Amino acid sequence: MAVIRIREQAPGARIAPEIYGHFSEHLGRCIYGGVYVGEGSDIPNVNGMRSDVVAALKELRVPVLRWPGGCFADEYHWRDGIGPRAARKKMVNTHWGGVTEDNSFGTHEYFELCRQLGCKTYVNGNVGSGTVREMSEWVEYMTFGGVSPLAAERAANGHAAPWRVDYFGVGNESWGCGGNMTPEYYANLYRRYQTYVRQYDGAAPILKIASGPNDDDADWTENVLKTCFRAPQPAQAHGFMDGLSLHYYTLPGGDWQHKGSATGFTAAEYYTTLRKALRMEELIALHGAILDRYDPEKHIGLMVDEWGTWYDVEPGTNPGFLYQQNTMRDALVAAATLNIFNRHCDRVKMACIAQMVNVLQAVVLTEGPKMVLTPTYHVFKMYREHQGAALLDAAVEGAGTAGEGADAVPQLHVSASRDAQGTVTVTAANLSLTAPCEAELRFDALAPAKAAGTLLTGEAHAHNTFEAPDTVAEQPLPVTLTGAGAAFTLPPCAVAAVRIC
Ligand code: AHR
Repeated sequence: MAVIRIREQAPGARIAPEIYGHFSEHLGRCIYGGVYVGEGSDIPNVNGMRSDVVAALKELRVPVLRWPGGCFADEYHWRDGIGPRAARKKMVNTHWGGVTEDNSFGTHEYFELCRQLGCKTYVNGNVGSGTVREMSEWVEYMTFGGVSPLAAERAANGHAAPWRVDYFGVGNESWGCGGNMTPEYYANLYRRYQTYVRQYDGAAPILKIASGPNDDDADWTENVLKTCFRAPQPAQAHGFMDGLSLHYYTLPGGDWQHKGSATGFTAAEYYTTLRKALRMEELIALHGAILDRYDPEKHIGLMVDEWGTWYDVEPGTNPGFLYQQNTMRDALVAAATLNIFNRHCDRVKMACIAQMVNVLQAVVLTEGPKMVLTPTYHVFKMYREHQGAALLDAAVEGAGTAGEGADAVPQLHVSASRDAQGTVTVTAANLSLTAPCEAELRFDALAPAKAAGTLLTGEAHAHNTFEAPDTVAEQPLPVTLTGAGAAFTLPPCAVAAVRIC
């Protein structure tokens, strides 16, 4: 029996709801066919947004949505995506499949999607191939409420009131697809571009995010901070930056040419995948330690605005569309990664899974009018009560490891929080493919009166298809009150969420 010891009397930092954020890029069928079908479609929609997908996403309480990229952001020219749709410029999406981008989903459509989802907005600007003027005018177009040519143009295009931009990214992967820059060069550009992300009187604060490191590139973090860090000034809410992004993908295979199949994998590859996903904790420690030297008070968030599994595309699909299936293995990657973000919520203030629909570790897959929810979707739903709650220390005692040799991972992976009403949420994943795990929750002082649990489990390869959409589905988890705590049993390869008060 493993014990999960919970310090409910000593709550920690608030878990930013934005840790449960999503990323949507003009890539494959994420936007077109995924969330947006246009008003003329036979697929039920509201102002062009698929009603089935929006309803499913609302269940997750999506807190923030990053758009338009990704690599696409540094080739995106926002003026191509405003005005009458028929007159919008068409372009080639050179990064993603070489398909024609007709720009029918642009700035107005993005804000409409966020309105329907009820989420915060995170717009990623173009540094790689865009000018300072272009970026600054986009910010003015979106957020200025007074009299100006750009505010007038927005009104002429059908939206008189300014929108709220909660987060603005100044470039994406500027070390790679966003311009192949050195950190020193990017850092100086960042200082310049962010100057013109204007904060207009009366507009809500725009939090500025610098393009951060890939993986373990500490040199990038150090050099960008060296040039760009400026402590928040008393007269101003912000310094030069409010966040630094971090991108980390889990590739089970050894390299980009051999990433591995989403659904066909051995037990050894399963554990390799989880071991690689758990590296997220090391990366947060690595970049967090550098941030701590500049910003010990933790004003700057580490924004993990791209994370997830990345496999070979499904056979027969466009290699540039990054379409992959999603199994119980992905559910465990999601569960452990979200536990890690919760546990580091003093520094991690946002994370966006890549990507929301039909791309990489998607929560929703679509095919024409059909929609299916992935195992990763269910994990986000089960974990949603952590959003905005206070982190609780949760230490696992008496659980062993799963997997062998260098790929051994902890069998039981947990995090816990307490909401404003005093209800404790514990999320736990049994990473073992073969061994069940009996666990008992024990508290400092709480003698629980009520407990309820939800379970997601299945064979590691189990996944949902359009023909069998409920192969992997949430089910009730029996939880027994023990006086001083509560006990439950996790089957192998399982994720649980327990609510207790
Ligand atoms: O999410 C797919 C791509 O991965 C993004 O466009 C890019 O930022 C990253 O390399």
